[in-house]
Amino acid sequence: MLDAQKIRADFPILSQKVHGKPLVYLDSAATSQKPVAVIEALKNYYERDNANVHRGVHALAERATAAYEGAREKVAKFIGAKNNEIVFTRGTTESINLAAHSWGEKFLQAGDTVLLTLMEHHSNLVPWQMLAERKKINLEFIHVTEEGILEEPEETIRRIRPKLLALTHVSNVLGTINPIRDLIRFASTLDPKPYTLIDGAQALPHLPVNVGDLDCDFYAFSSHKMFGPTGVGVLFAKEKILKEMPPFMGGGEMIREVYLRESKFKEPPHKFEAGTPNIADVIGLGAAVDYLTAIGMENVMVHDRELAGYALEKLAGVNGLAIYGPRDSSRRSGAVSFNVAGIHPHDLATVLDEEGIAIRSGNHCAMPLHDRLGVVASARASFALYDTEEEVDLLIEGIGKAQNIFKS
Ligand code: ALA
Repeated sequence: MLDAQKIRADFPILSQKVHGKPLVYLDSAATSQKPVAVIEALKNYYERDNANVHRGVHALAERATAAYEGAREKVAKFIGAKNNEIVFTRGTTESINLAAHSWGEKFLQAGDTVLLTLMEHHSNLVPWQMLAERKKINLEFIHVTEEGILEEPEETIRRIRPKLLALTHVSNVLGTINPIRDLIRFASTLDPKPYTLIDGAQALPHLPVNVGDLDCDFYAFSSHKMFGPTGVGVLFAKEKILKEMPPFMGGGEMIREVYLRESKFKEPPHKFEAGTPNIADVIGLGAAVDYLTAIGMENVMVHDRELAGYALEKLAGVNGLAIYGPRDSSRRSGAVSFNVAGIHPHDLATVLDEEGIAIRSGNHCAMPLHDRLGVVASARASFALYDTEEEVDLLIEGIGKAQNIFKS
């Protein structure tokens, strides 16, 4: 069982006051806070090992390369992949753009369909829109029910017969955990079998993920949402697929031989990592993976689900509050979005900020989903392993204060 109070001591930022009140950070779906272990890994790298990777034979270069490749090994083990199936990018957005540009340009043809869902955030929507424009492919969508779950996903996959099924593992607005394992299994029974890409940005911080068990073709996620540094992401793709994909960007690091008019590329994953990579932050991600592994993702999952359940119960008791997403906390992870009657989410977030409480307000990079919900914006409290029931209670008190202010 996870002790959130004890865990908080690992996150120095959480002990500060904001506007004279103890910080209550409920915006981890936008970006998570970082434990000392990650901050120290960055500091140690710059103080002791800073050098470019895969190039020098001197001691620092070898240490930097070992730490960088060591981080790849840690990430691979964490999600049940092989080392050469882990491509480092700048984040989930770049990972999905890489898949769309490289794999999509080569393997999708005019008339093919990419099947998405109405609950995608923009990272798993806009790259496919841009590809659709370039390649004349079709985009179709699995709908979302009133309760915020996928509507008839299997029937839709069977009817649409997509070449690619690309969907989020966990919704950043609804908190819904999609049954991706079942959907991937179902898709694999079709002939031809659709390729599958999972946006795991909101899953990695909350759930154990094993891409071998899921049997997805692609899985994308960001370091900064899983307690690692910003500026690093991962694209997992099956070895066979990466080998068939052309490079995305050209330059140093990704080549074996260069002539004036042509070049020969390295094998994956290096073929997809052009230029000097974000060495320090990749090493920081490795430290975040060590941190989560020591706590245990099963423990994290139970904590986040129970806290979301507690928040749902408390929020349901507030008058004039509309909550989005499943009522059953076992179908949810760490984000709860809502609207308070008569208070714009930005106004609510401003009042809460005065109380030291950080939430996100707006469309959370998911405009089509907000259209589906029939609202332009919502307030979102998102939880992580360091959040507590006391913080949920403070959120509820803060909402009460906002209601009093806007009543008068
Ligand atoms: N997609 C991120 C969020 O949900 C930025 O806040």
